[in-house]
Amino acid sequence: MINKKFTLAKRPIGMPEDDCWDLVESEIPDLLENQILIEVIYLSVDPYMRGRMNDMKSYAEPVKIGGIMVGESVGKVIQSRSEKYNIGDIVTAHLGWQTHIIADDDSLFVRRVFPDLAPIQAYLGVAGMPGRTAYFGLLDVGKLKSEDTVVVSAASGAVGSVVGQIAKLKGCKTIGIAGGPEKCSFIKDEMELDHAIDYKSGNLPEDLAKACPNGIDIYFENVGGEVSNAVAPLMNQGGRVPICGYISAYNSFNPDMDSRDDLPETPFDVFGALDPVPEHRFFVVTEFMNEWDKATKELTEWIRKGDIKYKESVLEGFEKMPEGLRNVLSGKNFGKQLIKI
Ligand SMILES: NC(=O)c1ccc[n+]([C@@H]2O[C@H](COP(=O)([O-])OP(=O)(O)OC[C@H]3O[C@@H](n4cnc5c(N)ncnc54)[C@H](OP(=O)(O)O)[C@@H]3O)[C@@H](O)[C@H]2O)c1
Repeated sequence: MINKKFTLAKRPIGMPEDDCWDLVESEIPDLLENQILIEVIYLSVDPYMRGRMNDMKSYAEPVKIGGIMVGESVGKVIQSRSEKYNIGDIVTAHLGWQTHIIADDDSLFVRRVFPDLAPIQAYLGVAGMPGRTAYFGLLDVGKLKSEDTVVVSAASGAVGSVVGQIAKLKGCKTIGIAGGPEKCSFIKDEMELDHAIDYKSGNLPEDLAKACPNGIDIYFENVGGEVSNAVAPLMNQGGRVPICGYISAYNSFNPDMDSRDDLPETPFDVFGALDPVPEHRFFVVTEFMNEWDKATKELTEWIRKGDIKYKESVLEGFEKMPEGLRNVLSGKNFGKQLIKI
């Protein structure tokens, strides 16, 4: 049996093109004791992958040249020399862009998932890492209160759609910002947020001021750039800005940069310059690892009841991984970007 994997061939400048990766095939070895073999069904495509392609200091190590690209997938156990996993079990594995994965049965990167609670690919999206990011970013970092006015960017996306709908469930006034009328219709009509604003329509500051006459208490930051600048003047005293990411700058990371100081304006510049300064900090979902099960349980229950609606963009074929990443970095995706094998 053959495994296919993508390894990093070179560090990108701007949007990562196909020549940044090598597609490598190798024979799958026999399992050792306490190992399992996972046949991947869906791979997740996430914005953070772009950051790992740079050789610079970050909250996580960069991928090495020749190293396997970082990423999570969901698949089926097809061989087992473990007492912990049976053939047929469905698991997520955070072990890179590959079609078959050998893992130790005590690996912290492998988690069992429950197909009867949510579709298996949802464990890469709203019931998985992005959903947990929304959950902890909003409730813990954002310290959500029911009377808050909450604005979220990339609002139809994997993280943003969960942020908006949790805020709505908790009784907040909710405003989603996204690119294009189709995404905005989904936010208004299916996610049922109070307002959806298309930042590409050219009236962002005016539209936002009209939707938030009493200011903004929480801005859940996913994108940075012009959106942060439009939000900033409307932040209320006591406001909070969980900085989850700022995707508009991700392709500005280049191999010759020494530090983040060389980056374009970041949300830290924009919100740090306000008077009073709103509470703002970058957070990583792994800060809350000890509580992940609690979040997954609540998220799958909301999905089951239809309280959290979500979109998926699925490309067919392992070879489409680079295209999937480019889609996420350009907004071509609509909801969680997945690759189906
Ligand atoms: N801190 C953490 O632990 C953590 C974990 C997961 C994700 N994140 C961050 O959360 C954010 C959302 O991630 P996701 O997985 O949910 O992705 P996603 O929202 O499903 O997809 C990315 C979206 O970003 C928007 N976008 C892309 N390029 C943009 C640009 N130049 N300017 C403005 N918007 C742009 C697009 O939406 P529009 O068409 O609406 O613009 C695109 O659909 C990212 O910043 C990511 O890095 C952080």
